[in-house]
Amino acid sequence: MSVQFSVQPSGTLVDAEVRADILANPAFGRVFTDHMVTAQWQLGEGWHDARLEAYASISIDPASVVLHYGQTVFEGLKAYRQPDGGVSLFRPERNAARMARSARRLALPEFPEDAFVQALELLVQQDRDWVPGGEGASLYLRPFIWATEVGLGVRPSESALFQLIASPAGNYFSGPLRPVSLWLSQEYTRSAPGGTGAAKCGGNYASSLVAQAEAAEHGCDQVVFLDAVEHRWLEELGGMNVFLVLDDGTLVTPEVSGTILEGITRDSIITLAKELGHHVEERKVDVDEWRKGAADGTVVEAFACGTAAVITPIGALRWPGGEAIAGGGEPGAVTMKLRTALLDLQYGRVEDTHGWMRRVV
Ligand code: PLP
Ligand code: COI
Repeated sequence: MSVQFSVQPSGTLVDAEVRADILANPAFGRVFTDHMVTAQWQLGEGWHDARLEAYASISIDPASVVLHYGQTVFEGLKAYRQPDGGVSLFRPERNAARMARSARRLALPEFPEDAFVQALELLVQQDRDWVPGGEGASLYLRPFIWATEVGLGVRPSESALFQLIASPAGNYFSGPLRPVSLWLSQEYTRSAPGGTGAAKCGGNYASSLVAQAEAAEHGCDQVVFLDAVEHRWLEELGGMNVFLVLDDGTLVTPEVSGTILEGITRDSIITLAKELGHHVEERKVDVDEWRKGAADGTVVEAFACGTAAVITPIGALRWPGGEAIAGGGEPGAVTMKLRTALLDLQYGRVEDTHGWMRRVV
C-alpha cells in the first residue's frame, strides 16, 4: 500500500542567524527544525492524510490510549553532511524494518517501509539547512507511532499517528570524546524473555530511568543491564549495545536473543570489524568474563554503540564495592579504529562499498 504525502511548507521559518547559532553548538534533542511529517491511521481505512507541514504542538485528548497504556514505538537515525555539501542517511531501510517489527510487538499498525524512507527524504530535503556540518554533528531524525484512540479499554488502539521530527545533534555525551563509566544494575532489569526488549518502545526507556538515576547516584554515566533470569548475562545499556575487545583482537557482543535491541550500529560494527580482520563473536557474555578479564588482561577494551552514542569507549564497569577497568580506562585502539571507520563512512570520507548511505540532498 503506498502512502501519498502532501507538502505544505511552513510560512514562518526560524531566522537564518538564529539557526546558525543553534547549528554552531547543537546539543542533543533540544531544538527541532521548521517542519515535521505526520500520517494518520484508522482501522479499516489504513494510512491516510500524510503530509509534511510546519513543526507545531499538537493537542490530544486526555483519554488517548498512549497516555495510559504506553502504546507507542519510535526510531532514531541520523542525516550526515557530506564533503560536497550534500546530505545522506545511514541505512534508513534498517530503521524502517525495525520500526515495523516494533509496531507489530506493540499491536500498532506498521508504517510501510518505503513510506518511512520517503518521509525521511521529504523532511531532510525540506529542512536541509538544518543539517549541521562538522565532526560528530548531524541531523537526528525521530520517527514515532502512537496510539491516538480515545478510551480506557485495554486493547489495541483503532487509530494511530505516525510522526517524524528532526533535531540538529552534537555528541550525545557532552564535551570532547571521553570514556564513560557504567553502573551494573543489581536490582533492575531492562527486559525479560517474551517481553518487549527487542522493540523500540517508550516503556523500555521509562523503565530504565530509575536504574539510570541509580547509576548517576553512583557517579556513573550509564547503566548496564544483565538478563532477567540468571542476572548473569550481559544485555545492553539503557540506549546502546555493548562490545568487549579481547587481547587477541576478538570482538564479543551479546547475541540477539529477543531481549536486546538489534542495533543498526551494532550490525554495522560487526561487518566493519570482520573486514578489518577481527574475529567477532555474537554469544552469551557472562559479566564475570568482563570483571575477571579486565583484571587479568584478557579483556582489553569495552565500548558502547548506537546511533546517538556512535562508538563510545567504556572506561569502567562499577558495582557495589567493586570496579573493573579494562585497558587502563583509556579509549582503546580497536574502539577508536572502528569509530573512525564508521564515521568515515557516515561522513562520506571513504567509499561506501556496502551501499549503506542513501543520498537525499
Ligand atoms: N539499544 C537500545 C536500547 C537503544 O535505544 C539503541 C538506540 O537506538 C541501541 C541499542 C542502538 O541501536 P542503533 O545502533 O540502531 O541506534
Ligand atoms: C538512539 O541512539 O537513536 C536512541 O534512540 C537512543 C537514545 C539514548 C537517544
